[in-house]
Amino acid sequence: MSFPEDFRLISYLSHLEHAVRFPLSSSYPESMDLDTLFELAGKEHRAPFMQTMLDYPPLRGTPALLDAIASTYQKITAQDIISFAGADEAIYASFQMLLKSGDHAVVITPNYQSLESVPLSLCDVSGVALDADNDWALDTGKIRDALRPNTKVLVINFPHNPTGALISRAQLDELIDLCRERGIWIFSDEVYRLTEFDPADRLPQLADIYERGISLNVTSKAYGLPGLRIGWVACQDKTWMLELERMKQYLSICNSMPGEVLTTIALNARIPILERVMERSRRRLASLTAFLARYPHLFQLSLPKAGVLTFVRYTGAEGAEAFATQLVQQAGVMVIPSVVYGSALNAVSEDFLRIGFGRENLDEALGEMGKWLDKQ
Ligand SMILES: Cc1ncc(COP(=O)(O)O)c(C=O)c1O
Repeated sequence: MSFPEDFRLISYLSHLEHAVRFPLSSSYPESMDLDTLFELAGKEHRAPFMQTMLDYPPLRGTPALLDAIASTYQKITAQDIISFAGADEAIYASFQMLLKSGDHAVVITPNYQSLESVPLSLCDVSGVALDADNDWALDTGKIRDALRPNTKVLVINFPHNPTGALISRAQLDELIDLCRERGIWIFSDEVYRLTEFDPADRLPQLADIYERGISLNVTSKAYGLPGLRIGWVACQDKTWMLELERMKQYLSICNSMPGEVLTTIALNARIPILERVMERSRRRLASLTAFLARYPHLFQLSLPKAGVLTFVRYTGAEGAEAFATQLVQQAGVMVIPSVVYGSALNAVSEDFLRIGFGRENLDEALGEMGKWLDKQ
């Protein structure tokens, strides 16, 4: 495979997300303006922010940013964190420093494409499919069966994009045991953590509980602040973190200073920010669920346990891809057909639609979609 192959999801979104009236498939909760951020965090932060020097911050991040990130972990400290320009840069850098030819990786499918395509550009990769007929459950036995003597990393993403699925704490412990016995790293994409509808479903952050666990996070999803473009990796292994630091020397080197300052303010005020996001997400998921229930002959929803995305089975005769094309062309409403989630590792059913419920204008978008559906 030649790298980089087209990142189908990003291509699809970059053509449509900013052009359509109703992007009903965004992967993040509606963002907020700076006034609202200062409202939630405390107005006293505004003046110091205006005095931010537009310098290069340190490569790993300012001490204040690293402290704020560390405060979201149990065991991880500021010394165990490297910040990046979004989660995407961190994904690229991490796999470059974990995998080489001759290694093997195991990745769940469907997936956020870079979690599969960056490993595939470096070594052999096996896919383990979540079960579409059983609420996207993970069979940990299938992970065990996929491991090889040269497996270097297991890649997981819970809460999961695009299904909102989660595994249990017992399953996470099982995965850790499987990997610990064999010296395998686990790369855990946790960008949707803190968006669980039932807090009892929340998993610990892997880097806190596994010495070879690499936890990925970002401000984009749970906090609804994608424009800050600050992501981070947390890991207890200091040697590997020095290697990761070397990779960043060749990428962004460091983040934008205003992004770091605003992220520090946001993380230190995370409780009201997260409450605001979750209150809206619950309400919007209820609207979307009620809407889809009006068309039981077309849509089968398996309720997400977290996040702002659903992966809905579409049962109309023309298929999910044709449906999504007609919907966007004729009603200006964008949903994403599952063909965009195609994998080189496993067949991913093309019968699904990624429908998001994070946007402010959800009810308006559903109104347009309903009018269009009722005319068909
Ligand atoms: C599972 C997952 N990981 C990583 C990312 C990348 O996050 P960002 O775009 O903020 O870098 C996304 C974005 O949609 C995602 O859904």
